[in-house]
Amino acid sequence: MPATSQRVFVGTSGDVPPNGRLVVDVGAITIGIFRVDGKLYAYQNTCAHQGGPVCQGKMVPRVTEVIEPDGSSRGFAFDESDPHIVCPWHGFEYSIKTGTHPGRSSARLIRVNVEEAPDGIYVTV
Ligand code: FES
Repeated sequence: MPATSQRVFVGTSGDVPPNGRLVVDVGAITIGIFRVDGKLYAYQNTCAHQGGPVCQGKMVPRVTEVIEPDGSSRGFAFDESDPHIVCPWHGFEYSIKTGTHPGRSSARLIRVNVEEAPDGIYVTV
């Protein structure tokens, strides 16, 4: 964060519905703001792979493989407690709660400080 950070109003609470998002431009930075389980998360709209507009991709639950006690696979399941955002350029996906790629921890989104005040949502850039 630059030394001269600013707290900027970006929208009302209703602009980020449950399990939804708002993508806004704040100066030269585009930011995606997500609401998961009532909490807000915000990231710069820049994929760690090649800079694609990740915050504008599909939101999907994490896909997990169900393994039986004998080690065999019972197929795949959705983990609704860990929603992901999928970059529209090449499919890198990130946990919205952590900003990290599930299979490559070095690939992570740039988090933006976000807060919900009585009069709306603010980011600090
Ligand atoms: S730029 Fe996002 S997956 Fe390649």
